[in-house]
Amino acid sequence: MRFKDKVILLTGSAACDKNKIMGFGGATVWRFFEEGGRAAIITDVQQDLGKESESLLRSHGHDATYMNLDVTKNEDWQKVISFIDSKYSRLDILVNIAGILDPKSIMDIDIKLWEKTMQISTLGIFLGVRNSANLMEKSGGGSIVNISSMGALQGSNAYGSAYGFSRGGMINFTKSAAMQLADKNIRVNVVMPGWVHTPFTDYLYKDEIQSKHRVSQVPLKRWGKPNDIAAAILFLSSDDASYMTGSQMLIDGGVTAGRMRIANPLDK
Ligand SMILES: NC(=O)c1ccc[n+]([C@@H]2O[C@H](COP(=O)([O-])OP(=O)(O)OC[C@H]3O[C@@H](n4cnc5c(N)ncnc54)[C@H](O)[C@@H]3O)[C@@H](O)[C@H]2O)c1
Repeated sequence: MRFKDKVILLTGSAACDKNKIMGFGGATVWRFFEEGGRAAIITDVQQDLGKESESLLRSHGHDATYMNLDVTKNEDWQKVISFIDSKYSRLDILVNIAGILDPKSIMDIDIKLWEKTMQISTLGIFLGVRNSANLMEKSGGGSIVNISSMGALQGSNAYGSAYGFSRGGMINFTKSAAMQLADKNIRVNVVMPGWVHTPFTDYLYKDEIQSKHRVSQVPLKRWGKPNDIAAAILFLSSDDASYMTGSQMLIDGGVTAGRMRIANPLDK
């Protein structure tokens, strides 16, 4: 019952149907309720999917509300935070999940799409931290978890220059937020997932060549599951991590552990 009486807000979390492919937000929210959570506000820019998730969670007796929140819009954040304040008078956990990927190389990417990718994972996180901090402080403190990527640690040969750029920046921003919000008893940490099968990667997972190519680079030899990431999000959100702030958790099946491959080990 780690989350008894707690209220959680998640961005980019419309996909919560256990019978379909869930996102990190969906996997997190079900476990949050299983562990005693009081209320969840799931937000996204996909209203229909979000409303379906709200109904599904409510049909299981959970206090879930879907709201539209484009993370790059300050007025959307203000609306959501003021709803949470008026209904629950508290906010304990914020999980910044929303993201997109710039799908072409530096030379070919449309500039607007590059900018949008950057904005969602830089401005979006900044606005999330800034808008939720006062309500969290009023609640006695809280935890913010930012979802970055293993892509923060390495360049990409094909696409995703804005993705990697902004995900790397997210790690540094998390450290500043951790330092600046510690006085309010708010912890801020970052999770860096590897390749996980969610709506975000479904097209790659279903493509045999793309999928095999990825798994061949994973020492643990499989795609990650949304629950692998939810476990880390919930650990960081709970009192189990009460001495962690400004930290990173890398959950990539070992992909970034090393690229050296010894062809003829000396001890053979
Ligand atoms: N799945 C992976 O392999 C993987 C790996 C590393 C990082 N990530 C990151 O994890 C996050 C979650 O992805 P997921 O795998 O759960 O997939 P997901 O597709 O379920 O979640 C991403 C969500 O972000 C939403 N979104 C896009 N633009 C938005 C905006 N402006 N405002 C609010 N919401 C917006 C999308 O509608 C979508 O629902 C993303 O930021 C992604 O970059 C995913």
